[in-house]
Amino acid sequence: MAKLEIARLGNPVLRQTAQPVDLKELSEPDSDVQVLIDDMIETMRSDGGVGLAAPQVSRSVQVVILECEENERYPEAQVIPLTVLVNPEITHYSEETAMGWESCLSLIDFRGLVRRSREVTMEAFNRQGEKTVIQAKEFLAVVLQHEIDHLHGKVFLDRMEDLTKLAYIKEFETYWLKQEPTVS
Ligand code: NI
Repeated sequence: MAKLEIARLGNPVLRQTAQPVDLKELSEPDSDVQVLIDDMIETMRSDGGVGLAAPQVSRSVQVVILECEENERYPEAQVIPLTVLVNPEITHYSEETAMGWESCLSLIDFRGLVRRSREVTMEAFNRQGEKTVIQAKEFLAVVLQHEIDHLHGKVFLDRMEDLTKLAYIKEFETYWLKQEPTVS
């Protein structure tokens, strides 16, 4: 396994439409896509992300990985077991939406307030080539929408309705992070 370099905003690969994976490649343990998946897992864990899309490591193919276990950047987030999504597609978006602050390894210093559907249905293949359907809500639904956007050349900035709600992380923590009132 190897840790890969993260493509940051401005790298044209982030703006390309990613190509679907040929599912036959998944049955070969040493295929390019299986090696890519292992390298993406190492990279995501090393950089502390909760999700990573292949264009973020300069590979324009439809692979996304997710994992969230007591992440420092998202201490309140729900746990997501390691999940590999090949050729994922969101087949249903709830009309009900919610605003939430997002970050991205390709825009590592920023947080931005983004509106997303509260629930989505997603279809994909796992790394064994088996079809999986995920009904997601809340945090997982947001992460799926964010990561699958990367496969379509989009970053969270493109989804922002109000760029005054874009902040460096330190300023986000100072001015925007809602502190729960302390009960004394
Ligand atoms: Ni991202």
